[in-house]
Amino acid sequence: MGHQIESILRENRSFPPSAAFRARARISDPAEYERLYRESLEQPEVFWGRVARELPWLKPFERVLDWSAKPFAKWFVGGRTNASYVCLDQHLTTHRRDKFALVWEGEPGEVVRYTYAELHAAVCRYANVLKARGVKKGERVALYMPMIPELVIAVLACARIGAVHSVIFGGFSAQSIRDRVEDGGCTAVITADGGWRRGKVLPLKPVVDEALAGLAGVHTVFVVRRGGNLIEWKDGRDVWLDELAAQASPECPPEPMDSEDTLFLLYTSGSTGKPKGIRHTTGGYLVGAYLSARFVFDLRDDDLYWCTADVGWVTGHSYVIYGPLANGASVLLYEGAPNTPHPGRFWELVAKHKVSVLYTAPTAIRSFMRWGDEHVTRFDRSSLRLLGTVGEPINPEAWMWYREVVGESRCPIVDTWWQTETGSIQITPLPGITAAKPGSATRPFFGVDAAVVDEHGNEVGVNQGGYLVLRKPWPAMLRGIHGDDARYVETYWSKFGGRYYFTGDGARKDQDGCFWIMGRVDDVLNVAGHRLSTMEIESALVSHAAVVEAAVVGRPDEISGEALCAFVTIGPGHSASPALAELLKEHVAKEIGKLARPAEVRFAEALPKTRSGKIMRRLLRDIAAGREVRQDTSTLEDFSVLARLRGDEE
Ligand code: WT7
Repeated sequence: MGHQIESILRENRSFPPSAAFRARARISDPAEYERLYRESLEQPEVFWGRVARELPWLKPFERVLDWSAKPFAKWFVGGRTNASYVCLDQHLTTHRRDKFALVWEGEPGEVVRYTYAELHAAVCRYANVLKARGVKKGERVALYMPMIPELVIAVLACARIGAVHSVIFGGFSAQSIRDRVEDGGCTAVITADGGWRRGKVLPLKPVVDEALAGLAGVHTVFVVRRGGNLIEWKDGRDVWLDELAAQASPECPPEPMDSEDTLFLLYTSGSTGKPKGIRHTTGGYLVGAYLSARFVFDLRDDDLYWCTADVGWVTGHSYVIYGPLANGASVLLYEGAPNTPHPGRFWELVAKHKVSVLYTAPTAIRSFMRWGDEHVTRFDRSSLRLLGTVGEPINPEAWMWYREVVGESRCPIVDTWWQTETGSIQITPLPGITAAKPGSATRPFFGVDAAVVDEHGNEVGVNQGGYLVLRKPWPAMLRGIHGDDARYVETYWSKFGGRYYFTGDGARKDQDGCFWIMGRVDDVLNVAGHRLSTMEIESALVSHAAVVEAAVVGRPDEISGEALCAFVTIGPGHSASPALAELLKEHVAKEIGKLARPAEVRFAEALPKTRSGKIMRRLLRDIAAGREVRQDTSTLEDFSVLARLRGDEE
């Protein structure tokens, strides 16, 4: 298994669900759970067929799974439905009609609420505007928006007319938007003038203008008013979405989509090449998001559920929008930063809105720890009953703090492992069943056949590190990479000869069958819960005139998990200086987005390479972390490079 996977400190604490939690949980009987889990693996079509029938279909499916064109799955074959119909219309004839679907708070503090009936009308209005401007079924629409209700409405409006949404996180640069719009062949963009972030209006429309400059193919830019910032206007292309929506009809029939019609594209980083447009389809994705949200978050009608992820990431797709709304939950949406205007902002929101289920990321938890308990404890958290985390491995210390300080030792924690590609949660405790262990995502969810294997695909022993694979198809799995089937097969299915889905993560499984995720085994970094490819950041660096060669590695960081450290060699006529380092950091931020800004830029005369010319990344990782270099350096081409990088020779 090599170097990447090493055993980590053993954590032996275990926290079974309390009797009080179990008494009201959706599932709490271990025998029932065992029976269902066994059924989900042994008779997946029976299990998933039954779950799928809990959702409304416009035309029933004929077959649960067609895996004959492996690794291209078809779920709920022949069925037709619509994601906005599943999230909205089904609730209109029930008591949920006048229940809040969305409770939104802006960063400056204003609150807007939408009942299911109101959200339905708002979505229909947007859908009618999109249609009137010629957006058609199957067309791709890029969304670049702040965390405002209009973002959720726009997503569901695309789904309603069968347009494919491609949400681009609001922190991405113009260049990143351009790449995604081009790769996806988007014909329309939905944006806002700006949004509130850290006490200021962050302009968005101007970034879209820059992204689209000279680009053919986008016929309309729909703009929502939010920031009130001055923007430029391109007549004929730009329209005010909110103005047109006010005049549009609040009724729009949902387009009956084939279960395998694309619902959305979402771009994610891989170790090589440009970002991948991960393709998710309609029926299977909804079934996966629905069931996981229901059981993992134990959703009930009286919950106020808050997933703090931005809709620009997959977590926001599956667990802000589709999963909770398919369950008829009340969802809190917050526009701004967790520490604006004060470091207790999240806990103020929890107290004010009586949040009962909170789903956030380890990086946020570590920030709260650092800011101090008092910002948490001065707000009433008695409404909380369940806590969740996602995005990266959580260190046991942060897990314990989350449990004791935030959850007052009362709330179970669900540490949920999954990926953009998996669409829905794959490894997780069930809060009424599983004894949680700090730092472990614990057990596979229903229908998930996870294993830890060696290089040859053979399962490794208890507590031995290996590659995490999934051995069975699941409903919400990606159906491919937009425009590149070969890359889909190569990236996820080639490592184990087409037998297993390769996650790219290392893991070990303990004596109780609990999984401990040990991070990525490829050249992908996880910064603040977001995947970044070293290769993309390196190409951004090399696109700067001063840089000849670059290698980017992660080093452990207390808050963000990993911080980016860039090693660069510069060309003649340029000299290494702190000013150039700052310039290069800014350059990356501009090319990709602030999230990719290196924490550190180090200049080197040469990068350490093997005789075959491969950059020795692990060696750079050790240097960046200030560790002893542990790698066998016998293949190093030029030994003096190493000494210079460490600063032994000046
Ligand atoms: C990668 C997926 C899925 C939502 C957010 C990230 C890491 C995610 C956990 C967890 C340990 C985790 C993995 C995974 N990851 N959740 N609970 N424990 N690691 O989505 O950007 O597609 O990244 O995030 O490395 O492969 P993503």
